Amino acid sequence: MPVRDTVTPATERPDAATLIGDVATRLREAGSESPRLDAELLVGHAFGRDRAWLHAHPDASLSASDAAALAGWVDRRVAGEPIAYIRGFKEWFSLRIATDHRALIPRPETELLASTAIGEISARLIRDNDPIRAWEVGTGSGAVVLAVALRFGTAAALSRVHLAASDISAEALELAAENLAAHGAAGLVALACGDLLEPPALPGGSVDLLIANLPYLTTEEAAAGVGSLAWEPRDALDGGRDGLDLLRRLVSHLPERLAPGGAALLEIGAGQAAAVRELAEALPIRVAVTVLPDLAGIERVVRVERR
Ligand SMILES: C[S@@+](CC[C@H](N)C(=O)[O-])C[C@H]1O[C@@H](n2cnc3c(N)ncnc32)[C@H](O)[C@@H]1O
Repeated sequence: MPVRDTVTPATERPDAATLIGDVATRLREAGSESPRLDAELLVGHAFGRDRAWLHAHPDASLSASDAAALAGWVDRRVAGEPIAYIRGFKEWFSLRIATDHRALIPRPETELLASTAIGEISARLIRDNDPIRAWEVGTGSGAVVLAVALRFGTAAALSRVHLAASDISAEALELAAENLAAHGAAGLVALACGDLLEPPALPGGSVDLLIANLPYLTTEEAAAGVGSLAWEPRDALDGGRDGLDLLRRLVSHLPERLAPGGAALLEIGAGQAAAVRELAEALPIRVAVTVLPDLAGIERVVRVERR
C-alpha cells in the first residue's frame, strides 16, 4: 500500500488525490462508516492542511517522514481509534479543542449547551447589575466553559461574570486547563476537582447558572463501546442502569446550590427529557422546566429555572 512506503523517491510518491483514494479504500475495507471523510482528515493532517487545501492541491506529495506518520495514523484508525485522538484535536464550536484519552471528545450536539449558556449569560448581563456566577460541572476537555469564557472575557475581567468548571477526573481537568491556556483563557475560569457540586469551585453557596453535560448513557451502552466509546474514559460515559444516575444526583442538589432566579442547563440523551423534567418538578422548590431540541430535532437540553 503506497502510504506505507517510506523509501520511494519523491517523483514516484503518490499524490494527495491518490493517497486519499488509497486510504479511503483501506478504511472502507476495515469497516469505517465514513472512509472518505476520515481519509481526507488524515491525509490533510499529514500535509498540515485542511480538506479545502487538499482539494485545491490534488498533485501535492508528502515527504517520506510525513508519509510514514500517515501510515501509522491509518493503522490506528483501522484499529478503531477516533480521528480526534489521532489528530489530537477536534473542531468544535469554531474552536480547536485539544483531545486525548483523558476526556470525552466534544460532540456536535453539545454546541447547543454552549450556545444556550452563552445566550443565558448575555440575557442576564443585559437585565441585571449583579455579577453572574456560572459553573460547568463535568467539564471534561473544557470545551463548553472555554466557549463561554471566550465570549465573556471582558465581562469576566470586569468581575461581571465569575466562571468555574469542575470534574471528578483530575486528568480531564488537566486537559481543560491546557485548552483554556491555549486560548488565552486560563485566568478566566476557576477549575476544581471533585464529585458534582462538592468542590468549592466558586465562593458562596449558590450559583446563577449551572451547566452540565454529565454521563447519560446506560451502563450497558457504555460497556458496548460502539465506535469512539471504546476509546473514551468510561467515567465520562456511564450514567448507571438507566443513564440518569448523575443527573438524578445533580438535580437533587439544585435546592441548595441554584440561586433564586437561577437556571440549570442539563444536556440529556435521546428519550430522557420526560424523566429529567419529572425529577426537577418533584423538587421542593418552584421551577419552570423547558426542553430544547438539537439540530437533529432530538430533545437535548433541559433548562430548569428556579422561580
Ligand atoms: C459526557 S462527559 C462531558 C465532557 C464535556 N463537558 C463535554 O461536553 O464534552 C462527562 C464528564 O463528567 C465527568 N464526571 C463524571 N462523573 C462525575 C461526577 N460525579 N462529578 C463530576 N464530574 C463527573 C466526567 O469525568 C466527564 O468529564
